[in-house]
Amino acid sequence: MFTSEEASRFVPDGDGDPQTDIVLAWELLYRLEPELYDRLAGAERLHPGVHGWLPRGVDRIAEVGAGSGRLTLELTGHGREVVAVEPARPLRQILRRKLAAADHGDRARVIPGFFDALPLPDDFAGLVVACSAFTPAPGHGGEAGLAEMERVCRPGGCVAIIWPNNLAWLAARGYRYICFAGPMSVEFASHEEAVELAGIFFPHATEEVGRRGRRRVPFEVLGINPPRDLAFKVLAQ
Ligand SMILES: C[S@@+](CC[C@H](N)C(=O)[O-])C[C@H]1O[C@@H](n2cnc3c(N)ncnc32)[C@H](O)[C@@H]1O
Repeated sequence: MFTSEEASRFVPDGDGDPQTDIVLAWELLYRLEPELYDRLAGAERLHPGVHGWLPRGVDRIAEVGAGSGRLTLELTGHGREVVAVEPARPLRQILRRKLAAADHGDRARVIPGFFDALPLPDDFAGLVVACSAFTPAPGHGGEAGLAEMERVCRPGGCVAIIWPNNLAWLAARGYRYICFAGPMSVEFASHEEAVELAGIFFPHATEEVGRRGRRRVPFEVLGINPPRDLAFKVLAQ
């Protein structure tokens, strides 16, 4: 189900086993069970501090690895025009549907693309952002991907990596770090959904999720780092 461009990034050696390669397993999930992924992402909401920190009144915003739009719909309130770049076709379809339903279809475009080959001109946007998508690994960003995000960002604009997975790597490239405090829970739609999705994504925690009997489950119960932080760089004028 991968295009040749996707395969060159996600299975560069020509094969892979999603039972042992968790990164490959996620890429398969986006394409085979996109609605399931969307339910999980919808429950794992970003800390409100992240939304509050993002600049407002931006001319153009580019989001890379937009997925099914956990951040994208919020971004439409921060800029005049939003371009969401997303390689997985099923996720692009979900995102387009959500934007149309929210009546944002005219101000947001959803296009295919990859971190390391962004289909956008130099200096395109005042804010270039990725949420839970960029990593230092070449298939998911890497040096080439960060250079592309900075190329697309105009002088004086901001590149932001939300929910970063490798702070030292970003710090070594001039990125500053912000983390917002406070308790955070995954907000499942119901207790039944919490048990169902825990059984799929966090099997070690299913029993505890069932025992708690609530739809809200603290991130630490599931053993994941909450989406409360970001790394950013303001480009020189
Ligand atoms: C964990 S999801 C996050 C999606 C969305 N930003 C969110 O917060 O819900 C990671 C996203 O990165 C995308 N992605 C993976 N590799 C990519 C690449 N090389 N270039 C751009 N996006 C990529 C995936 O298709 C997926 O949508």
